[in-house]
Amino acid sequence: MSTTWTWTWGECLGRRFAIVGHDTPGSGDFSLNDLAGSAGRMDVLLRAVNSALFVSHGIREDTQIVLHLEDSGPRRIRFDGGSLRGVHPDERSIAGQVRAVVRSPRPPIGVWEEFSSGISHSGGSLAETLDEWSRQGCDTLIMDAGGGSLEEISQEGEIGFVLSDHKPFSEAESELLSGYDRVSLGPMWLQGHACIAIAHYILDRP
Ligand SMILES: C[S@@+](CC[C@H](N)C(=O)[O-])C[C@H]1O[C@@H](n2cnc3c(N)ncnc32)[C@H](O)[C@@H]1O
Repeated sequence: MSTTWTWTWGECLGRRFAIVGHDTPGSGDFSLNDLAGSAGRMDVLLRAVNSALFVSHGIREDTQIVLHLEDSGPRRIRFDGGSLRGVHPDERSIAGQVRAVVRSPRPPIGVWEEFSSGISHSGGSLAETLDEWSRQGCDTLIMDAGGGSLEEISQEGEIGFVLSDHKPFSEAESELLSGYDRVSLGPMWLQGHACIAIAHYILDRP
């Protein structure tokens, strides 16, 4: 028999992740049977949600992740570990929630509407997320194999990481991100969800 419990670190400060899905649809529909194909590599974003929020039999209450669905009308979907209910750590379950959101009307840019417990959505793209994080006092770092070592970062407040999906950041995104520090998890380019798991591991260490 398994038990469900909530993951809390007494000493842990909040963590945020933002991932950009360049080809994932922000409105309309997609098939749960083709998440890696016609859904524009939605599978990459779903694995990122899984790595950001779920531990064995529990949720990281201190963590949130914002998915940026850039195709077919940009929309952002935010999963908050502190209030997330009814979502299970399998890709299909998370995909079902995302599909329900993208089928619904998109809120205006910058207006976050709660869709269900722990899941909110808003219009807008990475620029709006960076702006919101900055206004909320979150230290933003770009995950980049060519950056400085994450091990050397000392977390003094809330920390937010920005990642891309299977594609490099676009020119416009790179321009937006040019003023931020970059952190590396080693010289080899890894998959985004693996980067999230490694970042948690490094920051979890006492
Ligand atoms: C699959 S990679 C993207 C690869 C893509 N071809 C590119 O050139 O950006 C997904 C994301 O994971 C992060 N990432 C991958 N490897 C990393 C590393 N070694 N250190 C830090 N972040 C990394 C980056 O944010 C990257 O955009």
